Amino acid sequence: MKYSILKRLKEAAPRFVSGGGLGLRLGVSRTAVWKHIKVLRQEGYLIEGSPRKGYRLLPSGERLNSFEIADQLGTSVIGSEIRYVERIDSTNEYAKKLAAKGCQDGLTIIAGQQTEGKGRLGRKWMSPADSGIYISFLLRPPMAPAETQIFTLAAAAAAAGAIYQSTDIRTGIKWPNDLVINGKKVCGILMEMNCESDRVNHIVLGIGINYSQDAGEFPEELMDKAISLKMAADGREKDSIKFPSKLSLIRTVLRELDNVVKLVLCGRYEEILDIWREYSVTLGREVRFVARGVEYTGRASGIAADGRLLVDCEDGVRRELFTGEVSVRGIYGYT
Ligand code: BTN
Repeated sequence: MKYSILKRLKEAAPRFVSGGGLGLRLGVSRTAVWKHIKVLRQEGYLIEGSPRKGYRLLPSGERLNSFEIADQLGTSVIGSEIRYVERIDSTNEYAKKLAAKGCQDGLTIIAGQQTEGKGRLGRKWMSPADSGIYISFLLRPPMAPAETQIFTLAAAAAAAGAIYQSTDIRTGIKWPNDLVINGKKVCGILMEMNCESDRVNHIVLGIGINYSQDAGEFPEELMDKAISLKMAADGREKDSIKFPSKLSLIRTVLRELDNVVKLVLCGRYEEILDIWREYSVTLGREVRFVARGVEYTGRASGIAADGRLLVDCEDGVRRELFTGEVSVRGIYGYT
């Protein structure tokens, strides 16, 4: 309700809207309107009140909440419902709980902070308040479990595209879906799936972006491996500065995600792979990986729509990697 009032005030600004008119339109009393206005003011919106004219919204600076994220977003799948929470254990876990309660396709959760952010391969994802972006969305795609890997490639492509559009910073995608800048990780993607042998019930895709951390905020073990967009932007020429607010970057990420998810849902995988390849810092490079306890080195030569990385190994055998990790020469300390 409070956001319906805010919407009306935004539409009318800088004009006043009468309290009675707002109440009538929304089917609540003047007192109820006044209570919601009070809450909006507590959230930082500047709302002028006049006994005779009603209320009007004054320029209040940018706020980060579900209303501002959703307002005229223009997506059709992602963000069918948007929930912003200040603090949560993990947006992926929250999305899974809501999935179990039957939430709708496209539900999107954004958090200001995660207390138990999860990374790939059982790792933790550092999720301090304010300086990171934490997003998860839920989908119920009509596809077989083995096909869903394309979503992780699509999410990486969308995040790279959104960051480039918003900051002019070109990230590289390290297989399968780490985004890196100067060999350090700036964004990670975690897909979790609930499925039967031949049918997906739902997938949850979580995206974490290091937005504004300073170098000193990363723990020692990540110092050489992690970077934030802010750190990357600070290292640029002063005249190339383009740095988005968190709200603006989140909205761009959601729009880009919506575009790629629609491509996946109508089977246009090749277009996604093309974007992925455009940003890839793995293809054509020397990589190292461990399979069944044996270490191999080779050249990454291709990517398949099911996410497999094709590697031409030094022993002359072409190997296909489904999951796990590769070290790419020049990234995360592999020299
Ligand atoms: C990785 O290890 O690279 C994946 C990191 C994924 C982090 C994101 S933040 C939003 C979502 N919620 C989580 O708990 N993890 C993902």
